[in-house]
Amino acid sequence: MSTISSWQNFQQHYLDLPELGMSIDTSLMVPPDELPQALDKLFRNAFQQMRELEEGSLANPDENRMVGHYWLRNPELAPSAEIKKVICDTLGKILQFAKQIQQKIIQPQQADSFRNVLLLGIGGSALGPQFVQNALASEADQMQFYFLDNTDPDGIDQVMASIGKELNMTLTLVISKSGGTKETRNAMLEVRHVYESSGLDFSKHTVAVTGEGSQLDQLAENENWLRRFPMWDWVGGRTSVLSAVGLLPAALQGLDIEEILNGAKIMDELTRRKDVSKNPAAMLAWMWHHAGAGQGEKAMVMLPYKDRLLLFSRYLQQLVMESLGKEKDFAGKTVHQGLTVYGNKGSTDQHAFVQQLREGPADFFVTFIEVLRDRKNASIEVEPGITSGDFLQGFLLGTREALFQNGRSSLTITLEEINPKSLGALIALFERAVGLYATLIGINAYHQPGVEAGKRAAEDVIELSLKIQSHLKSNPAQQFSASSLAEILEESAKISTVFKLLEHLAANGRLQKFSGSDPFSACYQENC
Ligand code: PA5
Repeated sequence: MSTISSWQNFQQHYLDLPELGMSIDTSLMVPPDELPQALDKLFRNAFQQMRELEEGSLANPDENRMVGHYWLRNPELAPSAEIKKVICDTLGKILQFAKQIQQKIIQPQQADSFRNVLLLGIGGSALGPQFVQNALASEADQMQFYFLDNTDPDGIDQVMASIGKELNMTLTLVISKSGGTKETRNAMLEVRHVYESSGLDFSKHTVAVTGEGSQLDQLAENENWLRRFPMWDWVGGRTSVLSAVGLLPAALQGLDIEEILNGAKIMDELTRRKDVSKNPAAMLAWMWHHAGAGQGEKAMVMLPYKDRLLLFSRYLQQLVMESLGKEKDFAGKTVHQGLTVYGNKGSTDQHAFVQQLREGPADFFVTFIEVLRDRKNASIEVEPGITSGDFLQGFLLGTREALFQNGRSSLTITLEEINPKSLGALIALFERAVGLYATLIGINAYHQPGVEAGKRAAEDVIELSLKIQSHLKSNPAQQFSASSLAEILEESAKISTVFKLLEHLAANGRLQKFSGSDPFSACYQENC
């Protein structure tokens, strides 16, 4: 049984980042004292690649794109005066628009002010904004936030019902880099329908954040929406939180977005350090490599002991898994790389999955996040000399130790407090760690062929559904089983999909179902 690491070991693996009120303790990852030579070589290459990326190389070769999220917080780094200008201009326009909304200079059609923001987006166009909104929410917030990040009709109804009579005071942001993502398009059509059914002009309540010339951009332009903010092809979806995607909602919330950018900029500077032991992102990348032998053999469990960081693991899950989960490496070799991320928050999870962490398979390492400042005001004592916050820290330190005693490793990121600056820094820390780690393992972190494959497969299903409906409509008097229909449509290889589509249409009253002796002999017919 291991005991908690020695004071000397702790000091050796403690990286202090006073510029950001942050530190990282990797002592419980049990790393080797020195960076192994082979890894050192890989890091030299990773730093070089990162330098070239920041200078505007085509770091995403499959998509022939530059990768420029670092320029968003330091436009001076942008590879051209034109890019620098659009970044600065866009920031200025975001600040101005938020001010005009808050000062009621821009007003809704039938109310004196906008009080709510309804954000429509998915993946990188929703997770970052949701995380930031939740992490920095306070009683000073200027707007109440709602999110739709799916094409689930019932989920849409729930959100629209919570907005209820305040729809006339609701500003809708439609965020999609490509401007063609179906979930976001559907949410937009659904929300538009609700506005119109309430006698409201959708275009007078709506803003687009999207790539120039995209379908969404054209729609917003043709219908004269309130505003259009740009997304650029050199910013990837999952690293877009510090573009208009995340900054516009944050500014509307009333957050200090310049301070978020400042925190990210300072972290970017620290993560350019060539000495791995002094570079926080390189330290994380090293620990990921060390834990999973560079093969992602261990999952990363994110456990922030802070309710406001609840969405961090969801946000990171996308940033890390969509970036690192790749079949092929740069050389085209099949590698099936990845780093599984899951988590929620402490101490809540101590009453859930932490039991398995301590006693089940040792297939993970934990990233604890500790926040030193408990709350804005003083705390009451819940026991003599002890506050709720003391318990929260006690649970964190106790769990880390209990896991370590059972041979489970962890690292701990400590923040003095959650504020715009530390949040920006946290975002930048993981963005850089992902970029460096991807180079260590030789994969492209900036494309997402798996996501695209899923989108194409879904389109095929929709086409099949249309084919089924059309055939039933053309033969209204006839009943068909799933297998007979699949045969007629020459889709016998997809009988099970035909069956599932028929079941869904029937469950929603869009055709009639006649049950058979078993589930598969049921027949379906066009509604009379
Ligand atoms: O990171 C990514 O590229 C994706 O997760 C996208 O953010 C997601 O698919 C949404 O795409 P879009 O912003 O084009 O609607």
